[in-house]
Amino acid sequence: MRTPIVAGNWKMNKVYREAVAFIEEVKGKTPSKDEVETVICAPALFLKGMNEAAEGSDIQIGAQTMHFEDSGAFTGEISPLALADAGVTYTIIGHSERRELFNETDDSVNRKLHAAYYHNIIPIMCCGETLKEREQHKTAEVVKKQVEAGVKGLDRENVKRLVIAYEPIWAIGTGRSSSAGDANETCAVIRNTIAELYDEETAQALRIQYGGSVKPDNIKSFMEQEHIDGALVGGASLAPDSFLDMAKEAKYE
Ligand code: PGA
Repeated sequence: MRTPIVAGNWKMNKVYREAVAFIEEVKGKTPSKDEVETVICAPALFLKGMNEAAEGSDIQIGAQTMHFEDSGAFTGEISPLALADAGVTYTIIGHSERRELFNETDDSVNRKLHAAYYHNIIPIMCCGETLKEREQHKTAEVVKKQVEAGVKGLDRENVKRLVIAYEPIWAIGTGRSSSAGDANETCAVIRNTIAELYDEETAQALRIQYGGSVKPDNIKSFMEQEHIDGALVGGASLAPDSFLDMAKEAKYE
C-alpha cells in the first residue's frame, strides 16, 4: 500500500520566526512517517532553520522550486546543491504559479526533476488544467502531456519515488475544489500514463496528490479515492491545527 503524503505549500507567506514556531508546534503531533508522510514546503530562507527545528520528529521539510544547475550566474535562483545541504527532502517542481508567472516550462520541469534526483531530493511535480481547458474537455490531454514531458528520461526507480500533484488551476486558492470523483478520474489518467511509459508496478508505486482548496473538512473525500494518495495544500496548511487535522484525516483506517 502507498503511504499517504500531505504536503503544505506555504507559498510566499510567514517570516522566519513564525516558520520555526510552526514546526515547534506540530513536532511530535503528526502521524508517524510510516502512517502519513507530512511535509512543509516553505520559502527557501527558512528551510535550514526549520529542518533543525524538526530534528528528531517525523515532519519533513521541502522547497517550493529550485534551479536545475548546481551553481553559476543565475541571479536570485536556488541551487539544488544548497537545498540538499539545508537537509531538504522534497521540492515542489512546476507549480502552476511558477508556470504562469515565472516562465516554468515542461522542459525546465524535466531538467529540474533530473537535478533533484541527482541530489537525492524527491520532486513533487505539479500538473493541472486551466478553467478554459477544462471547459473544452481537454483535461486528460493537458495533464497527460505535462506528465509525459516532466518524467522524460527518468529511470523507473526514480519514478516510483516521484510524487505527482494534480492541481486543477481553477481550484487553487479559490475555495472551489474539484469533486473527489472528478479528481480521481484525472489521477487515474496520470497513473495510466506512467503505466504506459514504464510498467504497472511503477505506476502502482507512484504517489499522486490532489491539490486545490483542500481543507480539514474535505481531505477525507479525496483520500477515499483509489488514485489519490495525499494532498498538496496551500491556504489550509498555514495554521498548525489545520495542518495537523489534515494529516490525521489522511491516515488509512
Ligand atoms: P490552495 O493551494 O490549497 O490554497 O488552493 C494549493 C496549491 O497551490 O498548491
